[in-house]
Amino acid sequence: MASSRLRIAVFASGSGSNFQALTEAVRETGIPAEIALLVCDKPAARVVQRAEALGVQTFLFRPKDYPSREDYEQEIVRRLEAEGVGLIVLAGYMRLITDVIVKPYYGKMINIHPALLPSFPGVGAIRQALEHGVKLTGVTVHFVDGGMDSGPIIAQRAVEVREGDTEETLAERIHAVEHELLPLAVRWIAEDRVTLSDRKVSVRLGE
Ligand code: GRF
Repeated sequence: MASSRLRIAVFASGSGSNFQALTEAVRETGIPAEIALLVCDKPAARVVQRAEALGVQTFLFRPKDYPSREDYEQEIVRRLEAEGVGLIVLAGYMRLITDVIVKPYYGKMINIHPALLPSFPGVGAIRQALEHGVKLTGVTVHFVDGGMDSGPIIAQRAVEVREGDTEETLAERIHAVEHELLPLAVRWIAEDRVTLSDRKVSVRLGE
C-alpha cells in the first residue's frame, strides 16, 4: 500500500542548523516526508531566516503574548492538526513542553540532544560533558515524554572528546554528527521501521 508522505513540524528557537540539515536531507535524499511547518517562539531567531530561504512555512509566536504556556500550546496543537502533522521534531526548542502537546503526540514527537543520554540532560550538555571530563560524549535522538530529555532512545552516536577541546571545537564535531543522525532517525520513522514499546525502541533495518 502506498502511504502518503509524513508531514513534519520542526520546533526550534535558535540557529536552526539541524532544521536546515533535516529539510535538505528530506528533500534531497528521498526520505518519504516533508517539512510542513517550523514552529518558533523567537521570531528574530536565525532559524526563521533559514525557513524563509528554504520556503518552509512558519508559525511564530511570543510566549509573553499569551496568558499561560497551555494557551500557546493549545494554539500550536490547533495549527499542527490543521497541517496534518504526523511527527514533531524538537531541534533546539528551548521551552518546556506540557501535556497539552506531549499527550496527543506521544510516540510522534522526537528530540535531538547533544550528549549520550542519560548522561548530561538539560541545557549546556556539551559544557557539562567537558566539565565532567568524559572521554566520550555524543548525540541522542529520543522520543519525548513528560520529563527532561528522558524519553525512549531511538538512536545514539558517540563523539570522542579530544585533548584541548573547547566548548566550540567539541560543539562543531557534535553538530556535524547531529546533522547526519537526525535525518537518519526521521528516515526510519517515515519508513515505518520504528516500534516503541514501554521504554524500548526497536528499529527494523535492511529491507
Ligand atoms: C543542538 O545541539 C541540539 O542537539 C540541541 O540544540 C542544538 C540546536 O542547534 N537540542 P541548531 O539550532 O540546530 O544549530
